[in-house]
Amino acid sequence: MKNGYILAVDQGTTSTRSIVFSPDFKAKGADQQEFPQQFPRSGWVEHDPEDLWRTTVETARGAIANAGLTATEIAAIGITNQRETTVVWDRRTGKAIHNAIVWQDRRTADACDRLRRDGAAELIASRSGLLIDAYFSASKIAWILDNVAGARAAADGGHLAFGTVDSWLVYRLTGGRKHVTDITNASRTMLCDIATGQWDEELLQCFSIPRSILPEILDNVDSFGITERSILGAEISIRGVAGDQHASLIGQACFEPGMMKATYGTGCFALLNTGSERITSKNRLLTTIGYKIGPEITYALEGSIFVAGAAIQWLRDGLGIISNAGQSAELAAKADAQQQIYLVPAFTGLGAPWWDPSARASLFGMTRNSGPAELARAALDSICLQTYDLMHAMKGDWPEASLSLLRVDGGVSKNDWAMQRLANIVGVGVQRAQSAESTALGAAWLAGYGQGAGLNRAALPRNGWPAKALHLPPIPNGTVRSSGDGKLPCVRRFNLPRTPN
Ligand code: G3P
Repeated sequence: MKNGYILAVDQGTTSTRSIVFSPDFKAKGADQQEFPQQFPRSGWVEHDPEDLWRTTVETARGAIANAGLTATEIAAIGITNQRETTVVWDRRTGKAIHNAIVWQDRRTADACDRLRRDGAAELIASRSGLLIDAYFSASKIAWILDNVAGARAAADGGHLAFGTVDSWLVYRLTGGRKHVTDITNASRTMLCDIATGQWDEELLQCFSIPRSILPEILDNVDSFGITERSILGAEISIRGVAGDQHASLIGQACFEPGMMKATYGTGCFALLNTGSERITSKNRLLTTIGYKIGPEITYALEGSIFVAGAAIQWLRDGLGIISNAGQSAELAAKADAQQQIYLVPAFTGLGAPWWDPSARASLFGMTRNSGPAELARAALDSICLQTYDLMHAMKGDWPEASLSLLRVDGGVSKNDWAMQRLANIVGVGVQRAQSAESTALGAAWLAGYGQGAGLNRAALPRNGWPAKALHLPPIPNGTVRSSGDGKLPCVRRFNLPRTPN
């Protein structure tokens, strides 16, 4: 195979990142662009699909150039993306008929309430593994079909196509030749039967969505199409696609049942690999497809928290008490630990395990002595306490799981104070991968695996996490060790044992 460089595109909620990986999965060049967030009404969140496309193309070109390569040296592309976000486009023009409705958008909360009252919850949960909520794509698609003039008629005429962001990008990258998605993104639409990994007619009927607008569902490693030469300068195979949280599950090498990761970005998404077992949650978690590489589907239990890093952004942009995210740790460390201040960061409602779209943020326990340090501590604590809720719920759903280690990645995972606090609160060791870019790495692995970049399944799922990394002894006093012992070249190891307070 030619050279074996892999381009991973990570199209996220606030920015698009592209990273070129060498055949041994070292990042060689990267590029990133933020794009505008649109809030047309309270609770509504939209993206311009052209921004998602433009930043993908520009950062892909930038990453290849920054790696000192040309597109002809890229062997395969892996794509990972913000999930649930919904794009509907016209096949005749290749243009979206409405802005993308973002996963955070709450405009369809009433429609979801109606479905619940109509008694659809059991069917939807048993087929899709999901709880009825505006978070998922189905009610967003229905909203576009019902609110954009002429959309239903165009859909009935076979002219419209729906896709999550992966599907939209593949459609554009292949010059409109491929209308496909992957099984993990499909599992977040609320239209997919997760037992079979296929669209479900009864779920489609619940939302009045015509089958004709849906993409074909492929495995995570598959032939997703070939890029049109004019876009990146070469025809390149798209060989791996996964929703971002599933890609980071892969990038964190959580390939065994019982392994768990939490990715801390805008929100926090904790996924517990449950293997071939489709565990039905009794604690309002989601059952989701972890990944499908090969013949079998691997399932996961997921807890989705809508505000994690966003709580730190609120300290910076809302309160103005820090000027960069890192300062939250310095400030929190100075807080008076005797003050019991709690932030419920329900700025956009609450996700798992509460699922209350109408909840709003609250602060409890303030006194005249409470100041910026205590607020910073409460914000970081809120991230940890929500993670505790998820782990508690997971333990209830799957008592056999030991949940003795939590692998973390994403922006907030760089915050040592918060990660130590997390370990103290959840009461298990917390381990951080050397690269916070587990999501892009996961996508690159899928593409490399698909391209046959000298890899086999046994070589793939390690990311420098040998099994012994799961049994690191506790470090006295909860000290944060800042580097590995040299035996694990890819991993910066932390073991953060429980310490009082
Ligand atoms: O389910 C939403 C999630 O995929 C978004 O992730 O990292 O773009 O905030 P992120």
